[in-house]
Amino acid sequence: MVSAIDSEKFRTLIDINARLNSSYTDFRSLLKTIVESAARLVGAEAASLALFDAPTNALRFEIALGPRGAELQGKSVPSSEGIVGWVFQNSRPIIVNDAAHDARFSPLVSKEISYSTNSILAVPLKVKDRTEGVIELINKTSHGLFVGDDLEWVELFAVQASIAFDNAKQYERTEHELTYLQHKVQEKQGWHPLIFSSRVMQERLDLVKRVAPSDASVLILGESGVGKELIAEQLHLNSRRNKKPFIRVNCAALPENLLESELFGHVKGAFTDAISNREGRFEAADGGTIFLDEIAELPLKLQSKLLRVIQQKTFERIGSNETIKADVRIVAATNRDIEKLVQNQEFRSDLYYRLNVLPIQIPPLRERLEDIPTLAEYFLTKYARETNRGILHFSDSAMECMLSYSWPGNIRELENAVERAVLIARGTTITTDDLMIGAKPATGSERFNGKELKEAIILFKSNYIRAALEQNRWNQTETARHLKIQRTYLSRLIKELNILQSKE
Ligand SMILES: Nc1ncnc2c1ncn2[C@@H]1O[C@H](COP(=O)(O)OP(=O)(O)OP(=O)(O)O)[C@@H](O)[C@H]1O
Ligand SMILES: [Mg+2]
Repeated sequence: MVSAIDSEKFRTLIDINARLNSSYTDFRSLLKTIVESAARLVGAEAASLALFDAPTNALRFEIALGPRGAELQGKSVPSSEGIVGWVFQNSRPIIVNDAAHDARFSPLVSKEISYSTNSILAVPLKVKDRTEGVIELINKTSHGLFVGDDLEWVELFAVQASIAFDNAKQYERTEHELTYLQHKVQEKQGWHPLIFSSRVMQERLDLVKRVAPSDASVLILGESGVGKELIAEQLHLNSRRNKKPFIRVNCAALPENLLESELFGHVKGAFTDAISNREGRFEAADGGTIFLDEIAELPLKLQSKLLRVIQQKTFERIGSNETIKADVRIVAATNRDIEKLVQNQEFRSDLYYRLNVLPIQIPPLRERLEDIPTLAEYFLTKYARETNRGILHFSDSAMECMLSYSWPGNIRELENAVERAVLIARGTTITTDDLMIGAKPATGSERFNGKELKEAIILFKSNYIRAALEQNRWNQTETARHLKIQRTYLSRLIKELNILQSKE
């Protein structure tokens, strides 16, 4: 029995319970709370939570705290290996003092992290008769050994932890399901869900909503893959034209003569292949919006025709004299430096000024870091669903790696990286290796924008060390000498900061 006089412990447990029950909306932070709380309750030097991963039949250390926690976190052991495996298989708690001499003790993990283990207390995390994982506490803080009383407290705690764990899992599942279905509905209607959390994208969307009601042309600018097409969709969806067609035309996809007919239509006999009358995309967009993607590639001849549509709101089909009225909102986009094209007379300046009445610049992904986790999680859920992978997570270092990468291909590249990672990942966690992005540093000071000091320092350290390693052809002894630090310290930093030698 838990001793009646230990009221302080009891208060701790109640306090812990309140914390557990309030963190069910964020699964990962709940896991961390569970481990921290268990360690706090009985006083342990190190603590971990390993969860069972059915596809690999392994126990994966989701959270590991303590002196060597960072090295253990993310590692997996076979589900029958060691004390943690024994607790999992037997679904029973255990205390092992003098761990190194216990037959069940597997030096596998503890050796790898070079951490001496004398006393272990481990309890199963059971949800409705199913063992989900193991909470393991290592070395009692006061240099003593774990005793039966500690075990009872941790067992009591584990019952509460497992309820919170189950709630959090169900909450996560429902939330995933709900957003997935919402997005599916949008996608079915041909729209792409616009995902973001950054302030700068919120400002762009606010701007879109302000200009949407007007019929003025809009020019969307930004690097390849930043989501210009999605902004064009939002312009349409927020306008009074949203019940009418949204017509997409890629100006770079067709040669000049075909593009002209595609845009404006033709009449029978207008040219050799014109065997019948054909309606163009401007007519198809009547009352709605036409999205002219890659507008910089529009041939000069068609530029003047487009200018007339904008100024006079009329055009003719090829080979016809009949003037057609155009009630169409024009939204154009380009990833090229269109001002330079105007200077070089490759793009008509009068058309540029007409299109540029309302320019909307979409910043590259590396300048809106807050969007990276949100977008990455969104793509993760989407592709995990599509490939029946259940719910997947990113490891902390995979997330850091995504945050410090410069994403030259922007969101398109991020989406591809996550999709590929889902296909190659083995367990339920996406690791840095699965992402296969060289973790090249971002350029310029913008990579620190909006970051907390701690985050910025980590980023700086990582880039600084990478640069030093590159200068010394990745020779660690040389690099350590230049940086005036110990070789072993350098190698630890390389590991901690996850600095990879880029393949290029
Ligand atoms: N905010 C976002 N939320 C969700 N998906 C996005 C977002 N931004 C971009 N994407 C996705 O990234 C990909 C590229 O977006 P999009 O086609 O709009 O880029 P773009 O700016 O038009 O690039 P390009 O200049 O190369 O045509 C698409 O698959 C799109 O669905
Ligand atoms: Mg595009």
